[in-house]
Amino acid sequence: MTYLNTCSLAPLALRVRAAHERFLDEWESLGASAWYELWMDALDALRGKVARVLGARTDEIALAPNVSVALSAVASALDYRERPRVVLSDLEFPTLAYQWAVKPGVERTFIGSDDGIRVPPERFEAAIDDRTAVVATSQVFYTSGAVQDIARIARGAHAHGALALIDAYQATGQLPTDVHAADIDILVTGGLKWLLGGTGIAFLYVRRSLVQALKPSIAGWFGNARMFDFDPKAFEFHDSARRFELGTTANAAIYAASAGLDIVLEIGVDRLRSRTSELVTDLVDRLTEAGYELKTPSTAEHRAGIVTVRMRDPAKAVRALASRKFIADYRHDRLRLSPYFYNTADDHARVVEGLRGVSPPIT
Ligand SMILES: Cc1ncc(COP(=O)(O)O)c(C=O)c1O
Repeated sequence: MTYLNTCSLAPLALRVRAAHERFLDEWESLGASAWYELWMDALDALRGKVARVLGARTDEIALAPNVSVALSAVASALDYRERPRVVLSDLEFPTLAYQWAVKPGVERTFIGSDDGIRVPPERFEAAIDDRTAVVATSQVFYTSGAVQDIARIARGAHAHGALALIDAYQATGQLPTDVHAADIDILVTGGLKWLLGGTGIAFLYVRRSLVQALKPSIAGWFGNARMFDFDPKAFEFHDSARRFELGTTANAAIYAASAGLDIVLEIGVDRLRSRTSELVTDLVDRLTEAGYELKTPSTAEHRAGIVTVRMRDPAKAVRALASRKFIADYRHDRLRLSPYFYNTADDHARVVEGLRGVSPPIT
């Protein structure tokens, strides 16, 4: 098949499959002692790899089973009494917006998008005020592939004493991110897309000075400084971002994520970015030439590995492409194609040809 859907779920890498098998072998041969001999160290090794890919320190990284849980832990630590507002945009993935939909006393402000592709940064700046607790937005929009200037968003938030929280799920791996240089306060991301690691694993970054200040109001024993004391009466926040972790980890997912990250770190995010940019430009050019209307930025620097095409019936186009062995997907009014380093210009030539057969451009 031709796989053009990394922005939903990356295809299974041989090394990731081998990591799953290694986990099963260890479970089979060591049983529970694998926790002490291997798996606690594996958690720390994974935090370290995530830190490397984000330009963070290991003690600024927490593991979670998905972004919703990571967000729930960190959002439970914010004080909304003086600052009840959360600023988001219309283009966020629902996980981010839902987090505050159900919190009593929190007001969500959504910044609109004129073209359904990007959100002008000045609109964020105009919306943030001294009652804003946090600006929560994406580094790359899942609907259009547009890249946001997260350093600028952080500056806008900090000008009013608010926090900048970035959902980098569609960025980490394919786009260089330096959380310290961009002065981000909180970042969430996960394993199943551009980090090649499969389901059941997500990551939370919290700036070191903020880790100490934030006390989540949900808890689990993995967030306790002395977890192996097993004392039900004594809870002490872990000194590091581990205070945002809750209960027992899914270790198959930990192994898989670690193997996916190894591939990303070995290639290097800068090289991945330049390869993905080349591929995206190639795909954009071919689709434009074929007469399709794109919902993706027109300039290379503002787009990441997601190309979206406006369609009357994108679900039908996805099904028709699948019957020809192309894996793509759709969101809203658009087909999404998301090439990564293993794709080629030849894949693009064939998918555009296939698309012409099943869903010609809207005239
Ligand atoms: C931008 C973005 N954020 C978050 C998620 C997923 O959130 P969760 O881990 O809560 O399922 C996705 C996609 O699955 C996404 O594209």
